[in-house]
Amino acid sequence: MAGPFRIRPANRADAPGIAEAERTCFSDPWSEDGLASLFDNSTGVALICESEGPVLRLAGYVFARVIAGEAEILNIAVLPEFRRVGLGSGLLSAALDDLQGRGASSVFLEVRESNDEAKRLYGARGFRAVGVRTDYYRKPRENALVLRLDYR
Ligand SMILES: CC(C)(COP(=O)(O)OP(=O)(O)OC[C@H]1O[C@@H](n2cnc3c(N)ncnc32)[C@H](O)[C@@H]1OP(=O)(O)O)[C@@H](O)C(=O)NCCC(=O)NCCS
Repeated sequence: MAGPFRIRPANRADAPGIAEAERTCFSDPWSEDGLASLFDNSTGVALICESEGPVLRLAGYVFARVIAGEAEILNIAVLPEFRRVGLGSGLLSAALDDLQGRGASSVFLEVRESNDEAKRLYGARGFRAVGVRTDYYRKPRENALVLRLDYR
């Protein structure tokens, strides 16, 4: 991960900034209320990446959860001006470590079929396609690929 960045657990005070980033990064963003519910959930993992400097700036975030040994990456995003310097893979690795520490043996996620950047990010980390959910996404309507990673 290049540059002066740090990853830390997110908290409720981060929700407005993350909601704004959601609107920048996704066509069907999570609401602030939806995000806040993640912080109230003990099964949840919420990490943010900030660029350090005179002013801390939100650069990216990841949400995940683990239930009965099975984990799910719920969302990951990096703000456009911070992309392609390794923050996405840094956030993903931090979340995977956290989930493993909470007892996960496998991790699932959904990704839009057309999202080549994200598919490469996940593929590089060892995720493999195990299914398709037809018309899973809205705005625009699109199939989801279901990806899976098993810890060894
Ligand atoms: C997907 C996303 C999180 C990647 O974040 P990032 O910080 O740019 O990713 P990294 O710099 O860590 O790149 C990791 C790998 O992902 C792949 N990748 C990322 N962006 C890519 C691009 N524009 N083109 C091709 N491959 C890309 C590459 O394999 C890359 O490794 P490399 O740089 O060694 O080639 C970011 O593009 C994003 O926020 N997209 C919008 C939100 C989104 O689609 N999230 C996924 C929801 S399932």
